[in-house]
Amino acid sequence: MKVVRTMGELETAPGTGLVPTMGALHEGHRALFRAARAESERVVASLFVNPAQFDEQADLEAYPRDEEHDLQLARAEGVDVVFAPPPEEMYPAGFATWVDPQETGAEGTARPGHFRGVATVCLKLFNLVRPERAYFGQKDGQQVAVLRRLVRDLNVPVEIRVVPTVRDPDGLALSSRNGRLSAEERQRALGLPRALASAAREPNPVAAARASLNGLDPDYVEVLDLGDAKLLAAAIRVGSTRLIDNVLLEGEIQ
Ligand code: PAJ
Repeated sequence: MKVVRTMGELETAPGTGLVPTMGALHEGHRALFRAARAESERVVASLFVNPAQFDEQADLEAYPRDEEHDLQLARAEGVDVVFAPPPEEMYPAGFATWVDPQETGAEGTARPGHFRGVATVCLKLFNLVRPERAYFGQKDGQQVAVLRRLVRDLNVPVEIRVVPTVRDPDGLALSSRNGRLSAEERQRALGLPRALASAAREPNPVAAARASLNGLDPDYVEVLDLGDAKLLAAAIRVGSTRLIDNVLLEGEIQ
């Protein structure tokens, strides 16, 4: 496995699958590597904590980083190239051009500027790596919707693939932020996947989820449209940790 830190060292090749990540890799990321490995001749993963998509400085500073562990996991999953640039490689002095997806609702409203950072860094990665397919998790369902629209609107020749959410046995969606939860907070956080799963079976899922998330003070409860699937999504704050999750309402994840 090759580890590349500069754009100049990156090579392009046909049949490439790209898995963009911010590191602190877990079983959710592993599922993306496996999906990419299964249908790509070459798998490129990026490890880059993208400062542009953090709307809170404290969240950026607290974001977990463990490159040694990440490289080990990527190697074990047969990743061919890891692109792990320093921030100044992606945003050098004079950087001034942004992709602004104008996304409102859910994360778009709750985290102003977040999708602008995500869209800009992903377009840069698509241009640098030139993958045939790029793999993203259902966990961040609205990110998938934003990126699908980006590649359509800007004619980017990449197919966006979606991998179902990987959960711990208790139902909590795996997230790099879960490590910040105390045992008591984690117990409370379980209210999120439980509320979404039961509400998805109700005639008015948004109202049902709101009712059962009552004590967890959700930022939003919304239906997201991925084109081929509809998701019931919500965000809650447990202590100082913000968690998002969603479940399939109709259609298929692909
Ligand atoms: P990050 O949070 O590291 O997630 C990288 C990818 O892993 C995303 O596509 C995310 O949806 C997926 N993922 C995370 N948790 C998952 C889970 N439990 N099950 C399945 N997939 C999961 O998302 C980002 O980074 C960034 O916004 C990025 C796209 C890299 C741009 O900076």
